[in-house]
Amino acid sequence: MCGIFASIGSREAAPLILAGLRQLEYRGYDSSGIATIKVDDQGIGQLTCLKAKGKLDNLILKYEKFGATGLCGIGHIRWATHGRPDERNAHPHLDGESQIAVVLNGIIENYQSLKEILEKQGVVFLSDTDAEVIPHQVAQELKCLQKEGQPASGHLLLIAVQRVVSCIKGNYALAVTWVKTPEALVVASKQAPLLIGLGAGEFLCASDTPALAGFTRNILPMNEGEIALLTPLGIELYDDKGDRQYRVPNLLSIDDQIADKRNFRHFMLKEIYEQAETTALWVDRYLNKTDSITDVVNQPLVSLKIKDTVFEGVERIQILACGTSRHASLIGGYLFEQLAGIPTSVFYASEFRYSPPPLLPNTLTIGVTQSGETADTLAALAMEQQRVQAKNDSTFMACQLGITNRPESSLGRRISNILNIEVGTEVGVAATKTFLGQLLAFYSLALSFAERRESLPHYELKALVDELKQLPHYLEKLIKEHDQLCASIACHFSDVKDVVFLGRGINYPIALEGALKLKEISYIHAAGYPAGEMKHGPIALLDASVPVISIAVPGIVFDKVISNAQEAKARDAKLIGVGPIGPETQLFDILLPIPKVSEWLSPLLTIIPMQLLSYHIAARRGLDVDQPRNLAKSVTVE
Ligand code: F6R
Repeated sequence: MCGIFASIGSREAAPLILAGLRQLEYRGYDSSGIATIKVDDQGIGQLTCLKAKGKLDNLILKYEKFGATGLCGIGHIRWATHGRPDERNAHPHLDGESQIAVVLNGIIENYQSLKEILEKQGVVFLSDTDAEVIPHQVAQELKCLQKEGQPASGHLLLIAVQRVVSCIKGNYALAVTWVKTPEALVVASKQAPLLIGLGAGEFLCASDTPALAGFTRNILPMNEGEIALLTPLGIELYDDKGDRQYRVPNLLSIDDQIADKRNFRHFMLKEIYEQAETTALWVDRYLNKTDSITDVVNQPLVSLKIKDTVFEGVERIQILACGTSRHASLIGGYLFEQLAGIPTSVFYASEFRYSPPPLLPNTLTIGVTQSGETADTLAALAMEQQRVQAKNDSTFMACQLGITNRPESSLGRRISNILNIEVGTEVGVAATKTFLGQLLAFYSLALSFAERRESLPHYELKALVDELKQLPHYLEKLIKEHDQLCASIACHFSDVKDVVFLGRGINYPIALEGALKLKEISYIHAAGYPAGEMKHGPIALLDASVPVISIAVPGIVFDKVISNAQEAKARDAKLIGVGPIGPETQLFDILLPIPKVSEWLSPLLTIIPMQLLSYHIAARRGLDVDQPRNLAKSVTVE
């Protein structure tokens, strides 16, 4: 949610910043901006600031026309929180004399009161953003410090920013430049990611690792409340008390491949296709390969790279997540309860924080976030950690588990037990392969718990594992078939305003996820319901104009789902079924066929038509599938 990139060193900053912002574009595309400082022939610093509404390409056009030179600069990509997504609210924001430029990711919660004070002092605000208070405040602090006789220097800028951040409330990452110190940049972070990259002859700073990966593999993630002074010669890092910090940088371990669409029209489609391959890798990495009964009994069915302590003494599980990750967690909860017999609650992380349930002993807390940066999820996990520590009783489990695609993220830095879903970079804002990766992580965990607790006979678990090994093959075929099929039926949704998704049991979260995917990328209103709940109200919505997509796969609720679909058909709804070919599914006007697999595994297949149907509906409508309006891939504000 908003992205920051800053650079100082021996190379022109603007091209580096624009390249870095390109990698951060997934964090927002409402506007972008850049500020650079060059030193003129008289040795005086000159600030150039360019901003553009909309995507980064608009900023690049401006840069090509007007230029922005200098060896020091900051850049920003915006996802609007305070103020409309137009140019005047784009970052960087400047002080009244255009001497100081600031980019901010996050929210300044007390900006109103700070703004009022500044306005009373005659400061004129040019934007509606919360961020603009920062350059004005830094300017005031610098004036005070200079009046005290201190000459302009990077350290003076550092002190000014230290003073300002001590007065602001909220979560933020920011970067500040001052025209009088072209050899210095100050960056600060509080509960928002910021990483310093140590390049060859330059120091860089960005909200996320992929933006730095093209420049350096030596990364220094900033800790909570830290502030740093970057100069071409080095870094000075301080904690929130002003004490100097010394740390060795990490060596970047993520694959730094430049995301490439290959021959696909959109990243989202490419990422849907990649699910067969990422599943094959998961099967290979985690599932017991042997078929001999003795070996199977001697070796675990699933080998996970997490500590045994995660499994020990667990009586309950609670899962905290948002959006698509929460939908994956609902299936995880189903598996923990039905497969492993562990009572499980799944929470919206954003709700949990303000209405947590009473703390219970021996509860394992799992945080699920593909980006590892979702502020709601991180805050809920931190709050739970504090509640447990406050109990000071070893029966309350201090250990937490994180499931993410980004082990190097804030989640990875805060939680020591991480289950890495390892599906590779996901560029499309709508989560697809990370959702399947999260599901596979839950299958691995639930099977491991079930095997350890002997909640089901071993042969049943082994049969499930054997079936899971067939999954890549099923997926490969299914994705190709459904790509064509969904493209051909997308025309039925041209004028549709509402779509209802129905599922039951283990497939109810797939109905929720199908509805979310459609809303996100096609902007068609959609709602997912447990099929049995239709008659309790939502059925009033149905008529011939509202298509109903019903997930009907063999299992304990198959007949019930078919009856619920009949009820919808009786109200003239156009019925689209997701299920196996057979007499029961003949009632559907259109069938998106799924091979017959055990009900346990069915969500791993039923999700495919949900993703592809949304994709083709949105693509047919000519929408920006990979960067849908108002969304961002990483939601770092609460
Ligand atoms: C949906 C989507 C969002 C995210 C949600 C949580 O396609 O991407 O609903 O699932 O913002 O994000 P993470 O998983 O990064 O915590």
